[in-house]
Formats: sequence, C-alpha cells, structure tokens
Amino acid sequence: MVIENKPVGGNNFVLILKPVEKLPLMLPGQFCEVKVNKVPEVYLRRPFSIHNVDYDANTLSLLIKAVGKGTTTLSGLSEGEIVNIVYPLGNGFSLTKEPNVLLVGGGCGVAPLLFLAHTFKKMGIKPVVLVGGKTAEDVPQLEAYKAVAETHVATEDGSLGEKGLVTQHQIFKTRLSEFKRIYTCGPEGMMKAVAKAAEAIEIPCEVSLENTMACGIGACLCCVTETTEGHKCVCTDGPVFDSRDLNGWNIDKASECSQPYLKSE
Ligand SMILES: Cc1cc2nc3c(=O)[nH]c(=O)nc-3n(C[C@H](O)[C@H](O)[C@H](O)COP(=O)(O)OP(=O)(O)OC[C@H]3O[C@@H](n4cnc5c(N)ncnc54)[C@H](O)[C@@H]3O)c2cc1C
Ligand code: FES
Repeated sequence: MVIENKPVGGNNFVLILKPVEKLPLMLPGQFCEVKVNKVPEVYLRRPFSIHNVDYDANTLSLLIKAVGKGTTTLSGLSEGEIVNIVYPLGNGFSLTKEPNVLLVGGGCGVAPLLFLAHTFKKMGIKPVVLVGGKTAEDVPQLEAYKAVAETHVATEDGSLGEKGLVTQHQIFKTRLSEFKRIYTCGPEGMMKAVAKAAEAIEIPCEVSLENTMACGIGACLCCVTETTEGHKCVCTDGPVFDSRDLNGWNIDKASECSQPYLKSE
C-alpha cells in the first residue's frame, strides 16, 4: 500500500510502500518489479532499485524519475492505493568492513546508494557519497544522503556543488586513493568513467547496471550483458557487477570514457 508519494524535485518522486506481510531481509543494490495498474499498454512490470528500507516501520521506499508512461503513471499514485510489486530481486552490492568507501551516483541512479549508505552507517562506517547531475534538479534526496554520509555534489552547469562531471570533482582529483572500494550507479558513461579511474589505481569498483528488463527473473534473456565469463542476465546475475568482470569496461577498452584527470600530462 502507498503510504506516501512525495515529489523531490525535477521529475523525481519518492514512493513509500508498506506491504501487508513483514518485509523480507533485503540487500542494498537489490531491486523490485512494479506492476503499473490502470494502463493496459504498460503490461511489463518496471524495475526500480530499493531506495531505502525501514524495518521498524515495515516500509520500503523507491526513488523514481518519471521518464515514460509507466513511471508517469506511478508518479500519480495516491496514499492508500495498492501497488503490486515483486521483491527483492537480483544481487546486491558486496559489503566491506574497510572504513573508506566511496559511493558515486548520477541523477536518479543515486537511488540504491541511500540504502547502501544506511547499511554502512549501521556497520559503523561513514561512507563518502558523491552525486552528479546535469543541474541541481537532477540531484534528488540530497538531505537524506547528508544525514548518513559525507556528501558532495557536482553539476554540469554548476548550479549545485562543484561545476563539472563527478569524475572531475576534487574527490577524484585529490582523494581517490584513500578509498578501498567504490560503488556506482547512474548513466553508463558515468559508471564507465568511474570504473576506469578506480581500475587505474586498482580500487575494486562495483557498478549497478540498468539494462532494459522484461521478466526480472531470468526467463526472457532480454537483459543480458557481456562479461568475461560470457553472457549474464543483469536481473539474476546482477544488477551489481564488479567492473573488471564486464567486457568493454576494463581500463584498456573504455577509451570512449576518457576523463581529463586520466589524460597523460
Ligand atoms: C535494475 C534496475 C533498477 C532501476 N532502478 C531505478 C530507480 O531506482 N529509479 C528510476 O527512476 N529508474 C530506475 N530504473 C529505470 C526504470 O526501470 C525505467 O526508467 C522505467 O522502466 C521506465 O519505464 P516507463 O514506462 O516510464 O518508460 P518507457 O515508456 O518504457 O520508456 C521511456 C524512456 O525511458 C527509457 N528507459 C526505459 N527503461 C529504461 C531503463 N531501464 N534505464 C534507462 N532508461 C530507460 C526508454 O529508453 C525511453 O527513452 C531501473 C532499471 C533497472 C533495470
Ligand atoms: S529481465 Fe528477463 S531475463 Fe532478465
């Protein structure tokens, strides 16, 4: 049932849902598939990351950007409406006990990183979060991140935080080597650039892919991605992968993602 549907800037909104049953244990990085009611042409469920979980209140939240018919319909849900969701799906991020972790999100791709940041906080680790967007409107839920993490922002037009891409932020220029692990979710070009920078100094980097999905349970094969071990389903083998396991993502091949900080002097 919808407990709250809250606009959070741009075309983004946060849906807080309360299931009838007790929430299952979920891992940050896992996702759910939501049925869009009332719009027959949107017959496939839509996948969304688990944005946050409150086991005490028995609620989970989704951060969604309205981009098409399905998400725009969901943006109109009212309190008390029933939503049919399948969850939790896929594999989450691997958690490390090492204290220095960097979480890099782009736009709405930041969604799973709040649950991840909360999980690290519970483990006694204060993560560093870096969020990027084209403009300030593309950086939703900033206060929620600030509550649990050292949070930084980069926007391409400079309307919030440092001007430029996340990979041009001071964190990448001066502090990258202090991190033991990097987690990223957002546009593929951004994730490739983050992974390339991480691999250049041998920091493990986990990326959460958002391939188009239909079934979400490994049956239709429409979400496959190429890995060093052959084709894998993003829905069941991912959506989180080690960047080094993805073909075309490793440092020798990701040439289209060249970033100023990596150019030879
Ligand atoms: C594992 C996973 C987790 C996701 N988590 C989130 C999340 O937390 N929040 C969120 O807002 N979105 C998330 N997405 C993307 C979301 O599923 C799509 O935006 C949504 O399915 C679009 O549905 P629609 O009917 O509104 O748009 P459609 O009418 O189907 O498409 C409208 C536009 O959106 C584009 N689009 C469709 N699917 C995707 C996609 N998977 N990724 C990027 N662009 C897409 C289409 O190319 C088209 O341009 C996730 C996707 C995956 C696979
Ligand atoms: S979405 Fe059907 S196999 Fe992954």
